[in-house]
Amino acid sequence: MRSTFSAFASLAILSVVSPALSVAVYGQCGGQTYSGSTVCDAGSVCVVSNPYYSQCLPGSATPAPTSTTPNGGGGTPTSTSTSPGNSVCSGSRTKFQFFGVNESGAEFGQTAWPGALGKDYTWPSPSSIDYFVGQGFNTFRVPFLLERMTPPATGIAGSFNQTYLSGLKTIVSYITSKGAHAVIEPHNYMRYNNGIISSTSDFSTFWKNLANEFKSTANVIFDIMNEPHDIDAQTVFNMNQAAVNAIRASGATQQLILVEGTSWTGAWTWQSSGNAAVFGAIKDPNNNVAIQMHQYLDSDGSGTSGTCVSSTIGAERLQVATAWLQANNLKGFLGEIGAGSNSQCISAVQGALCSMQQSGVWIGALWWAAGPWWADYFQSIEPPSGAAIAQILPQALKPFL
Ligand SMILES: *[C@@H]1O[C@H](CO)[C@@H](O)[C@H](O)[C@H]1NC(C)=O
Ligand SMILES: *[C@@H]1O[C@H](CO)[C@@H](O)[C@H](O)[C@H]1NC(C)=O
Repeated sequence: MRSTFSAFASLAILSVVSPALSVAVYGQCGGQTYSGSTVCDAGSVCVVSNPYYSQCLPGSATPAPTSTTPNGGGGTPTSTSTSPGNSVCSGSRTKFQFFGVNESGAEFGQTAWPGALGKDYTWPSPSSIDYFVGQGFNTFRVPFLLERMTPPATGIAGSFNQTYLSGLKTIVSYITSKGAHAVIEPHNYMRYNNGIISSTSDFSTFWKNLANEFKSTANVIFDIMNEPHDIDAQTVFNMNQAAVNAIRASGATQQLILVEGTSWTGAWTWQSSGNAAVFGAIKDPNNNVAIQMHQYLDSDGSGTSGTCVSSTIGAERLQVATAWLQANNLKGFLGEIGAGSNSQCISAVQGALCSMQQSGVWIGALWWAAGPWWADYFQSIEPPSGAAIAQILPQALKPFL
């Protein structure tokens, strides 16, 4: 999840507050108790890490979506079961193999390294896992922070912090002991220690080491990197391909791997970002890789407004990406979707998931997000009373189980 304050909003703040200094890259620019400037230096944007913390990260606002017409394609049947239509989605549907929520928390406090457990970050709650497994969901995405896993003192290719690794292993074991899948992902936007990750070799070593820790657990899913952005698509592709090769070389051959593109891996910008031109070439010796994309339904596609563009925006924003997956004989995995709890958004989410299940090429979908620290965030699906529990869960998600 990421978000940006619009230039207009920033100007409005500047005009009412006395001369606000802009915040340097990687500085704090928002959060519930924060009272400083929310304007980032040129060349960076204010990105929400969590309700308590927003940070100026290098980059610019999300490009507008393209309006390219999909070009059809062959379609890729998967091995999942098919179902007849239901009241919110007509026609025959291919069910998701992987359906669940993001379990956010261990990536909170994005600049507090290593930070303190319980203060800067937290691990997901077993009770939250139980709740969703009890409802029939089977997949949990668990973000973590690279600088906590591989401390900057020894670098990304160095050894792991055993305390933090053990926190990750504990929640992964809990999830897999329930028969569910744990998607583990560095929530780092292809950045590490205040710089863009540029060494393919170091990144490969990191993934070889991490895969080695989990290679005997088939229900772990390796998600190479959350939301790279402001890096060209080919470079991001090369890093992903190197990581896939390193994971397989480590002996982790049974796990699904998810790759993510640049431009925050947005489905709506899959073509305009350049991802479509390069990601068709992804190769996995074990032939078990899927393309992870993210999609929000508010006007800037950031998941920061509870207002959706229209009741059909979900299906519309996925159309080009779905056609691309079909044409390239690849599988898609919607790693993040979120929207407000109102009738327009509920219809838009239903439309998105319906179009995905009708296409046969999307193998998974995850709501953003559960996690113990979301407070009143409008997309929180943390039981018992997250904002998305009352309506989104029964009306927009459960019909697609
Ligand atoms: C899943 O969790 C990560 C970690 O906070 C977050 O950045 C990402 O946006 C989440 N996905 C969704 C769909 O919210
Ligand atoms: C390892 O992680 C723990 C838990 O976050 C932290 O207390 C400790 O300082 C870390 N050690 C190093 C060397 O970063």
